[in-house]
Amino acid sequence: MSDLEDLALLVDARTPLIFVDSSDAARVEDVFARVATRCGRPLYRWSLASGLSRGDGTAVPGDRGDNQAADILAQILAQHELALFLLHDLARYLEDPLTVSQLREIGLRHTQVPHTLVLVGSALSVPAELRAVATRVEMALPTLDELKALVLEEAQAWGARQQRRVQATQAAITALTRNLLGLTHADARRLIRNAIADDGVLSDADLPAVQAAKYKLLDQGGVLSFELNTTKMADVAGLATLKRWLADRRDVFLSDTPPPGLDPPKGLLLLGVQGGGKSLAAKSVAGAWGVALLRLDFAALYNKFYGETERNLRDALKTAGVMSPCVLWIDEIEKGLASESGDDGGPGKRILGTLLTWMAERRDKVFLVATANDIAALPPELLRKGRFDEIFFVDLPKPEVRSAIFAIHLKKRGQDPAAFDLPRLAQASDGFSGAEIEQAVVSALYAAHGRSEPLSTDGIAHELSVTRPLSVVMAEKMNYLRSWAQSRSVSAD
Ligand SMILES: Nc1ncnc2c1ncn2[C@@H]1O[C@H](COP(=O)(O)OP(=O)(O)O)[C@@H](O)[C@H]1O
Ligand SMILES: [Mg+2]
Repeated sequence: MSDLEDLALLVDARTPLIFVDSSDAARVEDVFARVATRCGRPLYRWSLASGLSRGDGTAVPGDRGDNQAADILAQILAQHELALFLLHDLARYLEDPLTVSQLREIGLRHTQVPHTLVLVGSALSVPAELRAVATRVEMALPTLDELKALVLEEAQAWGARQQRRVQATQAAITALTRNLLGLTHADARRLIRNAIADDGVLSDADLPAVQAAKYKLLDQGGVLSFELNTTKMADVAGLATLKRWLADRRDVFLSDTPPPGLDPPKGLLLLGVQGGGKSLAAKSVAGAWGVALLRLDFAALYNKFYGETERNLRDALKTAGVMSPCVLWIDEIEKGLASESGDDGGPGKRILGTLLTWMAERRDKVFLVATANDIAALPPELLRKGRFDEIFFVDLPKPEVRSAIFAIHLKKRGQDPAAFDLPRLAQASDGFSGAEIEQAVVSALYAAHGRSEPLSTDGIAHELSVTRPLSVVMAEKMNYLRSWAQSRSVSAD
């Protein structure tokens, strides 16, 4: 049911007081204008700034121009024509015993003159004395269909003003509306206008700005951050199995009506050695699926306000829900879960409990990507079957993947990969992680620059030869990780 029908029912049922919790005053005005018409009642509005007026803006005959809450309520009490009153600033007076008493009286006298008073405000709650005569409603946020209508409306308005049509594909409009879900009409309209106004085109190129603006509206500061730069899959070498897994699930994740028998994907865990590209891969999921990337900083959960860690986490998860569809990335998840206080229900345990509950119950399109370097520090509950759709192990890159990593990072720094002996470099970098390969390229580039020489295969090979990769330094730990992963996870490569 729509807001309009719900509210008309309440008015027709002669509800004396309706508390509307909404920060979108324009939308409330608009809806109640229609409710009044549908219920056949005159609409009066009141605000501190404008005083009392009829819904159509004309002054009220006999209005004394008094503007205090007590006066306005006295005026309403004295009025015998059945009406609907939209009261914008009255909620501020709910601390005042006189106001509460007047409202209660209006409610109780309701059998004689069944006015309906509508109090509008954000985060409204009904005082205990008024509960018997008041109903509280939240304005529903616009649905996908309503948002789509809003996009078309704004596109038409822009077209009429500019004397040319907005260029947009059906797919771009769908993606845009999907990203506007969770916003009020007023905010959504503003973001749509901005997206159109810059160039008269609605395309995927508008999405990052819309996502960032939406995130700003929701941001309560702290543990969740919006990452503007997602990575393209093309910047990630190897991980073929992971890439295929993601490609297979993209449509189902984004679909509003997933095909029968296919549950929307919920999340994955990337396990592996330091520098293996887990964080990079996590970022690229958002890039590959064209959705927002939110990073949840587990460590910050603890140091923000001690004692409020779980609430911080719940708020962050709620914001992620409003930002859906999105990827929620928790990097090095073990760091936030390792409880210093052991098994005694310390903060780490409670955080884990909150996270597991959310993972089990969420319905939003929030895809969780967690990474971990150290399985020994991971609580077994998190690894149990069914928590994540899949656990992928990101091992050290194989020779052909190392070649590709060299190519990516050479190209990134303005070098032509074809000018290098990639097979030789791949062979010389056995046991190196992606991060170490990148580092070797960077170091060699500095050295070449210092000697005013072009970067060469020899230069990079030299850097490799003087580096002891982590896989050698930490061979034991890595072997443990690998053997653990063998039986419990899928190779990402
Ligand atoms: N498979 C890869 N393809 C391209 N670059 C890589 C790859 N693996 C690692 N890198 C490079 O190393 C950097 C560090 O990797 P990162 O994702 O932080 O590793 P991890 O999170 O597993 O420790 C990346 O930003 C990227 O530049
Ligand atoms: Mg990392």
